[in-house]
Amino acid sequence: MSAWSIGAIQMDVPVVLAPMAAVTNPPFRLLCREMGAGLVVTEMIHAAELVKGGVRSLEMLDIRPTEHPVAVQLFGGDPETMARAAAIVERAGADMVDINFGCPMKKVVRNGLGAALLRRPERIGEIVRAMAGAVSIPVMAKIRAGWQDSSAVEVGRAIEDAGGAAITIHGRTQKDGFEGHADLGSVAQLVQAVSLPVIGNGDVRDAASADRMMATGCAAVMVGRGCMGYPWVFRELRAHFAGNEVPGEPTVDERGEVIRRHVELYADTYGESRTALQIRKHLLWYFRQTPGEAVLKGRLARLSTLDDVFGAVDAAIDACQQPGSRFVRGLDKHPNRRQTCRERPAVTAARKAS
Ligand SMILES: Cc1cc2nc3c(=O)[nH]c(=O)nc-3n(C[C@H](O)[C@H](O)[C@H](O)COP(=O)(O)O)c2cc1C
Repeated sequence: MSAWSIGAIQMDVPVVLAPMAAVTNPPFRLLCREMGAGLVVTEMIHAAELVKGGVRSLEMLDIRPTEHPVAVQLFGGDPETMARAAAIVERAGADMVDINFGCPMKKVVRNGLGAALLRRPERIGEIVRAMAGAVSIPVMAKIRAGWQDSSAVEVGRAIEDAGGAAITIHGRTQKDGFEGHADLGSVAQLVQAVSLPVIGNGDVRDAASADRMMATGCAAVMVGRGCMGYPWVFRELRAHFAGNEVPGEPTVDERGEVIRRHVELYADTYGESRTALQIRKHLLWYFRQTPGEAVLKGRLARLSTLDDVFGAVDAAIDACQQPGSRFVRGLDKHPNRRQTCRERPAVTAARKAS
């Protein structure tokens, strides 16, 4: 197995679950660790809200004993606030603290945060330096290839000089959003320019795309959309990096088992009624473009107990048992955009009904 490390923290496989807002909460992180991810990253947490003791931010800081190693991701632009938030993250038991310098969303960049900071490498340096001085756990940073054009080398050097311990690079600029293909050249250039471990991110969805990313010289790959509705990608990549035969895609029954496990983990964390509401989008991703999708959508608005949820999963799995049923592997778009337009009416209806 290709072990690697960030500071003193060892990972046994070079595969990282990407931070994803409203997706990488404790149940999903636990599921992905069980499926084989070597490191998991939380959703982004607003540093200023965390420092103020905001309930939602504190809830997002929930770290479970079996999910280590785990990095908690913060976003913000004020070095002192980021340092105070990093200290809270360390006290909460995180193995690492990650910084979001890559979010392209308008409401984030309009406030000069996320990817907007890529235009200010000196500010990035101040933030990393303040955080690294406030904690003893490694400070990582997640960047994009650049704002409009590539600036990853300049930004990466600023992070290294300021005491950062690792850099994740998503090979798209802010302007690219989630469109087109990730530019692996930007990953390779960063690898050449810094001596920190670089985690390569963008379009890794199977062993072949992981190999293409590793060919840049990066220390590990990060998987985002490829695991939404398809956490089995982690067992495939774990086997691949161990030099073992990559297991085939799961059978319909195996899918049912893992989806039920996801529901259980969700219920253990958030209880019955919240699970019945929030697990719906995951179920839609699991059954996207399968014969189970219509069955599931027909029941979605009536899910209020765990029995309802398990019943809907069983019915959707049954519908997929017909010969020739096909599944898709993960998402290929950002779910808030085109991909879920067709799903949104069902989710909205379900919300109204509950
Ligand atoms: C639903 C969703 C939420 C995301 N939220 C975050 C986030 O909170 N922090 C972050 O750094 N990146 C976030 N990202 C970006 C991913 O971490 C990743 O960089 C991007 O999806 C590219 O990787 P992929 O091609 O494997 O999906 C998000 C992406 C998606 C699809």
